Amino acid sequence: MIEQHARTFEILFDRPSAATADAPGRVNLIGEHTDYSGGFVFPIATPQRTRVALAPRVDRRVRAWSRDVGDEEAWIEYGLGDEARTGHWGDYIAGVTASLRESGQVVGGFDARIESDLPLGGGLSSSASLEVALLRGLRAMFGLPLDDVALAKIAQRAETGLVGAPVGIMDQMAASLADEHAALFLDTRSLVYERIPLPAATGLIVIHSGVTHRHAGGEYRTRRAECEAAARLLGVRELRDATVADLARTALPPPLDRRARHVVTENDRVLRARDALTAGDAQQFGRLMAASHASMRDDFEISTPEIDLLVGLTRDEAGVYGARLTGGGFGGSIVALADAGRAAAAAARVALEYARRVPLRPTVLIP
Ligand code: GLA
Repeated sequence: MIEQHARTFEILFDRPSAATADAPGRVNLIGEHTDYSGGFVFPIATPQRTRVALAPRVDRRVRAWSRDVGDEEAWIEYGLGDEARTGHWGDYIAGVTASLRESGQVVGGFDARIESDLPLGGGLSSSASLEVALLRGLRAMFGLPLDDVALAKIAQRAETGLVGAPVGIMDQMAASLADEHAALFLDTRSLVYERIPLPAATGLIVIHSGVTHRHAGGEYRTRRAECEAAARLLGVRELRDATVADLARTALPPPLDRRARHVVTENDRVLRARDALTAGDAQQFGRLMAASHASMRDDFEISTPEIDLLVGLTRDEAGVYGARLTGGGFGGSIVALADAGRAAAAAARVALEYARRVPLRPTVLIP
């Protein structure tokens, strides 16, 4: 039996691939749970990527193999037009072909080999990375007339549609448009974006807590519904349109008051974080990250004791400007901005101390 890693497209499908493509995951630096309220986000691409190899088929079937799940689950197969939710990783593939069809894009059957170095459920959006990598490959192979923003929208629709996770557009926009060297400031309502490099001599720390999350699960959906309810009570289209003064004027019932306060203040922090990054001010950026974490922990209530521990340990390291939970929450990873020369040693110390205190295995993903 050939080992998983060594199974090339040729070995799996008995012919060479016709197209290859890849896409990164994302680390959100600040601006959490703002994207489904039309707000601001600030992600950057991960060095880790998902890679796909593809070849067209003469029939209308899709067969795909993933290197990163157990042998029994590695293959999926379905017919175009027969996409259905299974609760399996193949939903991301079926979600993409269903979403393409809904937007009027025509593809034929294909075989696909997939591999990713992103941790699944690690808060770095392995799913958007897979969706965008596959769409890039299909765009190349079938000559689809899609620009990178259109591609991100189709990827998001894969997730909100067939997969059934009511996500915003941050992750798919980041996977489609961000790179590793500059953060992507994004207005999720207009989809206007700007790339701003990290301050000189700084770098990121990203550590996975060892707790995986699932967004299709209830908490994400509840938070989103709470934000929509708060917007209705405040009389605005989305929380993007509310100000701190609006919150002071209208007494929202708990927990909607706290949820709305997080989103409104987080949007403001993202705008200030953009100014800080533009000015190369790592100190100020770090302070905003810390305030963002407190808001996620106390007002939005999406942190966990393990994540708070990781953030605390990281923040206490010399050369770290600020640290926070990144991604949807309830597990996943933390991100910190640090002096480039000190980031690796700090991350290693934090991971060691974390593993000493909780029965979990952390993973340093960056640097
Ligand atoms: C997940 C979703 C995003 C966003 C974040 C929270 O990653 O996919 O759309 O809502 O959570 O900021």
